[in-house]
Amino acid sequence: MRPLFVRRARQLVTLAGSSAAPLVKEKMSDLAIMENGSVWIEHGTIAAVGPDDELARQFADRLAEAEVIDAKGKTVTPGLVDPHTHLVYAGSREHEWTMRLGGATYMEIMNAGGGIHATTNATRQASEEALYDESKRRLDQFLLHGVTTVEAKSGYGLSLEHELKQLETAKQLDDTHPVDVVSTFLGAHAVPPEWKHTPDEYVRLIIDEMIPEVSRRGLAEFNDVFCERGVFTPNEARRILEAGKAYGLTPKIHADEIEPYGGAELAAEVGAISADHLLRASDEGIRRMAERGVIGVLLPGTAFFLMTQAADARRLIDAGVPVALATDCNPGSSPTVSLPLVMSLACLHMGMTPAEAIAAATINAAHAIGRAHLVGSLEPGKKADLVIFQVPNYVQVMYYYGINHIETVIKNGKVVVKEGKVRI
Ligand code: NIG
Ligand code: FE
Repeated sequence: MRPLFVRRARQLVTLAGSSAAPLVKEKMSDLAIMENGSVWIEHGTIAAVGPDDELARQFADRLAEAEVIDAKGKTVTPGLVDPHTHLVYAGSREHEWTMRLGGATYMEIMNAGGGIHATTNATRQASEEALYDESKRRLDQFLLHGVTTVEAKSGYGLSLEHELKQLETAKQLDDTHPVDVVSTFLGAHAVPPEWKHTPDEYVRLIIDEMIPEVSRRGLAEFNDVFCERGVFTPNEARRILEAGKAYGLTPKIHADEIEPYGGAELAAEVGAISADHLLRASDEGIRRMAERGVIGVLLPGTAFFLMTQAADARRLIDAGVPVALATDCNPGSSPTVSLPLVMSLACLHMGMTPAEAIAAATINAAHAIGRAHLVGSLEPGKKADLVIFQVPNYVQVMYYYGINHIETVIKNGKVVVKEGKVRI
């Protein structure tokens, strides 16, 4: 593999020095930007980051053998990290969106057998091949929007067999696609119709059968629960998350999305790596999250698409909670793969600054899925995951919103998107 030399970025957004702990408060604005910066890449790894003239001198005797990418006038950031997606699913739910536009609520649709249940039916029925193909197309789209690492949740199987099928698909994608896929078990996404009258039995199934088997097969690192009134209670969530811990699965939680429900408090109590959504989190819950260092993964695309008030990111950041951003990519509440659009929404609807949004979609997102030692910043020794945006500064990435500014994506030192097209 020839060395790769990315040269002379107008802004090289390195986020250097943030791998040990997530960025909080004013540190979230410290992007460690280098002007006219360059990156030397060897064997898929970042070998050196620095001013262009310095690197050109350092590698003078190897320049001739390197593949050079000129980033003059452009912005280079770490590959974006999306720490909350429901990547693997089958089918589509545009008819529900039309119903919601006519006044139906998300929960009404779900309780009437649609929502998560509709996607569960479609996902159960899909062959492994069809599920892989649909999800791979989505993953290509993520890559085209600059995302080089995604978290992917199960939760549309809701039986041992089908949860395993979803997680196997995620693993296969991780093995075959340039984007790294980090898996989360979300058996507690909804109580499926067959357990509707005995939900406690379904919780028992998750705890006694699904978690042990998922862990035995090494199919997930994280264990998540949709903790919301009418879905799983905080008590059920606690039991499920504690059971996962005993099998080496780190807790995550869908918390306080629709009403205040003690999700943030529970995240702190069980030592979750992140609590996600948090639109209605209590002050006390936020205080405890800050104390325990639980990352708040905020999903402004979901609030936008559900036409509700977004989470108050300012409140979290000012309280000392490390904040990350994610698409929540799923067919019901956020059918998008555009993390840059989510970053624009974070500024427009949640009170974040463009600098905070960049930190939240790179290094803090990497921390939220236990990958900060590998990705999320541009530093020697880390994976050479970089994106080149066709704009002269990082603010324009978000200011010109809804436009895909990606020109080039480099994953593990390989150019995987060029001139806006996937070339794997
Ligand atoms: O994160 N909140 C629960 N789960 C997803 C929605 C899943 C769906 O509607 O299919 C979410 O928003
Ligand atoms: Fe979600």
